[in-house]
Amino acid sequence: MNSNNIVLRVEDIHKSFGDKEVLRGISFDVVKGETKVFIGPSGTGKSTLLRCINQLTIPDRGRVWLDDEEITNSGTRINYFRQKIGMVFQNYYLFDHLTALKNVELALLKVRGMNKEEAREKALTELRQVGLEDWADHYPAELSGGQAQRVSIARALAMDPEVILFDEPTSALDPELTREVLEVMKRLAQQGMTMLVVTHEMGFACSVATEILFMENGVVAERGTPDLLTHDPQFTRMKNFIGQFNSYRGG
Ligand SMILES: Nc1ncnc2c1ncn2[C@@H]1O[C@H](COP(=O)(O)OP(=O)(O)OP(=O)(O)O)[C@@H](O)[C@H]1O
Ligand SMILES: [Mg+2]
Repeated sequence: MNSNNIVLRVEDIHKSFGDKEVLRGISFDVVKGETKVFIGPSGTGKSTLLRCINQLTIPDRGRVWLDDEEITNSGTRINYFRQKIGMVFQNYYLFDHLTALKNVELALLKVRGMNKEEAREKALTELRQVGLEDWADHYPAELSGGQAQRVSIARALAMDPEVILFDEPTSALDPELTREVLEVMKRLAQQGMTMLVVTHEMGFACSVATEILFMENGVVAERGTPDLLTHDPQFTRMKNFIGQFNSYRGG
C-alpha cells in the first residue's frame, strides 16, 4: 500500500456514541510531509476522528494504517503506534509537579528506556527546537500558555513521531501566544513533519495546509487545497462556515 509515500491511511471510519452517529465513514490518505487541516462546526467529530486514529477511541468500523501496518486491532503493538503518532491537545496535559525538561524526559526514560544522560540531551534538543531551552527548569505554572503548549509539542517530538495530531492547539490562547505556537508548527511543517491539525486559524491553514478538509455531520463534506478553496466558487459550505466563524470571532 505504501507505493506513493503514504504514511497514514484512514479508511471508512465510523463511530457512534449511544444512538448518536458521530463519524459516518471518513477516509483519507496522508503523504509523508503533508499537513492536513480539519475544520468544521463544534460536535462534528473532529476530536473523535483524531482519537480514532491512535485508538484512544476505538472506531466501530473502518481501519487505520501507519506505513504498512494496521493500527486498528493491533493489540499490544498499539503502544508502539502511539509513540509514532504524537498528539498535542488544546490543554497541554503537562504534569504540574515536573519541570518543562522533566515533562519532555519522562517518556524517554519510561517508554523508550533511555538513560538519564541521553534523555536529558534529547529533551533539551527538543526544547531548543521549540525555542524553550532557557525554560527547561521552569514548572508549568511559571510558563505562559504558549510556552506550555510548546513544551507539549517538544514532548511529542521527543518520541521521533512519524505523524503529529494537533487538536485545536491554540484555541485556549491569546492571539499573541497563538502566533508563537503557530510559528513553531509552521516551522515543523517546513522541516517535513507530517501533521494533522484541527484548527480554526484560517491564516495558518491557508499558508501551511497541503489540504483542508471540512467536516460536517460526521463526514468530510468538502476538501481541497487552500488555493482551490480560495479561488473555486464551488466550496460554498466551507466558505459559509468560515464566514460565520470569523464574524462570531469578530475577525
Ligand atoms: N466519550 C464520549 N461519549 C459520548 N459522547 C461523546 C464522547 N466523545 C464525543 N462525544 C460526542 O460526539 C460528538 C462529537 O464530538 P467531538 O468532540 O469529536 O467534536 P468536535 O468536532 O471535536 O467538536 P469541537 O469543535 O467542539 O471540539 C459530540 O456530540 C460529543 O458530545
Ligand atoms: Mg474537538
